[in-house]
Amino acid sequence: MTLTSWYNNKQHLHDGGLIDIKKAVIIYESIHHKNTEKVINYISEQLPIKILKLQDIKTLELKEFDLIILASGIYYNRLHAGILKWLKSINIKDKEIGILYTCGFRYKDYSKKIRKYVIDNGAKYIGNCWCRGYDTYGFLSKIGGIAKNHPNNQNLNKIKKQVENWIL
Ligand SMILES: Cc1cc2nc3c(=O)[nH]c(=O)nc-3n(C[C@H](O)[C@H](O)[C@H](O)COP(=O)(O)O)c2cc1C
Repeated sequence: MTLTSWYNNKQHLHDGGLIDIKKAVIIYESIHHKNTEKVINYISEQLPIKILKLQDIKTLELKEFDLIILASGIYYNRLHAGILKWLKSINIKDKEIGILYTCGFRYKDYSKKIRKYVIDNGAKYIGNCWCRGYDTYGFLSKIGGIAKNHPNNQNLNKIKKQVENWIL
């Protein structure tokens, strides 16, 4: 199913019917090249999802949302440490949680640590999605970086489709 149009968190179906869309918020951190922010901005243009930077989290009314998507670049093999720190400060029991990340080179699934915390603490883990993001960290700057031109349009669309499936 593809999300065509929506209003008030209901999707309009071609036969005129309406179905509920989950109320979703993306909490994100993006400090290297704003790669993750590029993905998040694209999603927020395409889908009815609230986006919030981790530093603005105090304004969040968590009870308004069914689904929380945690999004970040990967720094030293994990999502930004502030994401897990924030998660530990709230009650996630029975919330649906998905993970989205951008990374320079994915030689393993970087979301495992947060996934374990989510599952161990009674939330419903709904999956992860990722793409590569331009990376000039450390010695990589000397070779002009890796994953140049990422996230690209293909990356943006792949992740958008995944997030769309999560909210429908
Ligand atoms: C301090 C630092 C550490 C990083 N560590 C990793 C890593 O362990 N694995 C990886 O694939 N990419 C790593 N990267 C690359 C970033 O994950 C990648 O560029 C990502 O797209 C950055 O997202 P952002 O621009 O939203 O911050 C690192 C980047 C920085 C700045």
